[in-house]
Amino acid sequence: MIYEHAADIILDDVFLHLPGFVDHARVFLKLEGLNPAGSVKLKTALALVEEAEKSGALGPGSRVIESSSGNLGIALSVVCAARGYPLAVVTDPNATRQSIRVMESLGTEVVEVTQRDANGGYLQTRIDYIHQRLSDQTDLFWLNQYANPANVSAHRDWTARAIHEGLGHVDALFVGAGTTGTLMGCAEYFAHHSPHTRIIAVDSVGSVTFGRAAPRFIPGLGTSRLPEIYRDTGTFEKVLIEEVDTIATCRLVAARYGLLAGGSTGTVLAAVRHLGPTLPAGARIAAISPDMGDKYVDTVYSDTWVADRYTECAALTSLDTLSTR
Ligand SMILES: Cc1ncc(COP(=O)(O)O)c(C=O)c1O
Repeated sequence: MIYEHAADIILDDVFLHLPGFVDHARVFLKLEGLNPAGSVKLKTALALVEEAEKSGALGPGSRVIESSSGNLGIALSVVCAARGYPLAVVTDPNATRQSIRVMESLGTEVVEVTQRDANGGYLQTRIDYIHQRLSDQTDLFWLNQYANPANVSAHRDWTARAIHEGLGHVDALFVGAGTTGTLMGCAEYFAHHSPHTRIIAVDSVGSVTFGRAAPRFIPGLGTSRLPEIYRDTGTFEKVLIEEVDTIATCRLVAARYGLLAGGSTGTVLAAVRHLGPTLPAGARIAAISPDMGDKYVDTVYSDTWVADRYTECAALTSLDTLSTR
């Protein structure tokens, strides 16, 4: 297959069957990390930019700004480089050196804010910085993934449709919640096209979307501030997963299936392990894997990083223990 632009290589039809992951059910993992941006955020970035172009807010001579500590910043770097929009990504000390270097290598200006906000995080500081830049520079456009409906429509029109068309009948779809764009888009699509499919929304313990704020260390899922696009529509069930369970599941999948998955994939699959056995025999389960694990070798897959943060770490290094968790 020949593509004209790197950002067109979306690869929305790749599923990995995980035999034996749940007894009496078939589990299919939708792999979103194989595109040139390395994550599900390539579709979000494309939709945010294309909608802004359609509305006339973005065009020749415009510049783009966005707050991101990782995957969206990289995806926007891919899209904006190809379309000729100078891009500034506002990030904080939690962003990995590798993500920053990837963005910079694609020509992006990366700004790191270091002042903590009133909640002890950096999100409000990042947003205040963006407002400051917008008031100084009138050619700058803020895509604002947390409030932009294009973040939802991207996954309604691409991700959810690809699952429905690629897998056919699905009894339960497990989706992680970060900005909740993937979740809201999938919930909307399946409510119309396959209402019998149970949508299971998965968040991390410590995130405020379904629970209460507490320290979290694994990026991707969860947030400290409720996203504007999130609506509790009653069309999905909610599950909270502990980070130690995320780590155990990532390591189990790497050891048993040879798939080095990202942290949020481990969170989503931990929910599949907990709820899968409660589904009827023969159930077809789909789960979305937002990215791959290479970015997490120094965190989720590092014994010392884990031991420094979690007291249950001893249980995480033994595969025998893992399979019984
Ligand atoms: C690795 C990873 N997992 C999950 C998500 C959550 O996706 P969404 O923002 O659509 O809820 C993100 C989003 O940033 C991500 O980067």
